[in-house]
Amino acid sequence: MDTNVRPDTMKRITTPELALAFIDEQVKAVREQVGDKKVLLALSGGVDSSVVAALLIKAIGKQLVSVHVNHGLMRKGESEQVVEVFEKGLDANLIYIDATDRFLGKLEGVSEPEKKRKIIGEEFVRVFEEEARKLEGIAFLAQGTIYPDILESDGVKAHHNVGGLPDDIHFEGLVEPVKLLYKDEVRVVGKALGLPSNMVDRQPFPGPGLGVRCLGAITRDRLHALREADAILREEFDNCGLSKTVWQYFIAVPDMKSVGVKDGKRYEGWPAIIRAVNTTDAMSATIEEIPYSVLHKITDRITHEVEGINRVLLDLTPKPIGTIEWE
Ligand code: XMP
Repeated sequence: MDTNVRPDTMKRITTPELALAFIDEQVKAVREQVGDKKVLLALSGGVDSSVVAALLIKAIGKQLVSVHVNHGLMRKGESEQVVEVFEKGLDANLIYIDATDRFLGKLEGVSEPEKKRKIIGEEFVRVFEEEARKLEGIAFLAQGTIYPDILESDGVKAHHNVGGLPDDIHFEGLVEPVKLLYKDEVRVVGKALGLPSNMVDRQPFPGPGLGVRCLGAITRDRLHALREADAILREEFDNCGLSKTVWQYFIAVPDMKSVGVKDGKRYEGWPAIIRAVNTTDAMSATIEEIPYSVLHKITDRITHEVEGINRVLLDLTPKPIGTIEWE
């Protein structure tokens, strides 16, 4: 039997009861697979790896070693939440690595999107690999692979969720407890495991993070502006309820400035571009209609609160022709 194929008989996990049954089943399977050996997990803080971490902590406790690599391209507060939830809340065996300087150093002056992605993906593997080498007696590697990762490889952009492991690091095997689940099922399982809703219900976030939204060559000041503007957008979408209905929304900041005026003086700044889309499968996407009152509020806050941004623009482009991300 191909274990990468979801059997027709497998029920869709839609309720807490079905999730608990799935969790019990996986807890048993994982214990059987790994015995008393150690398992390593790259915990990005995204839905999939977070759910896998919580599931494995339930199954094997401290035999799971989770590594969170902060590549400096996380959204505001995200790495802090990983530490809060897993180290403080679930008493996880968590290794936190702030690799911001390393990543931003490698990315300096690099403006070509696929090159940026490649650097981020490769550097991620390298940092992770270095940590793995320091640890003793790790037998298994856990991954937050989900069913769409297995089914899809769209060929348009390089995605980094599957594969990418160095050939010379040997594990006895992979632990991929949610690999036959769809995203909505992973969320139901995550809630049943007690993960906070803002972690489980969060919108998709690309592996390369804000790196593909800080367009062109990344600079620290523009990245900072992007992170702050993005946090404001998320806050305002929470306030008006749009965060519950819109599939994905974010800010992109291009590498260009326009002339503005602030306190009677010339004020050159970057534009913040709002993108808010709906989709079912991310292969095509439509534009969410945001009320003008919300747009005005966001514009007002971003232009007043974020240093370096002097305009706010709205991206009205569906996919196709625009991809969801700008890079
Ligand atoms: P695009 O931009 O191709 O994005 O329309 C479709 C969906 O995939 C996400 N995305 C990524 N996710 N690594 C990821 O894990 C990536 O390199 C990557 N690129 C795009 C994007 O955010 C959207 O949800």
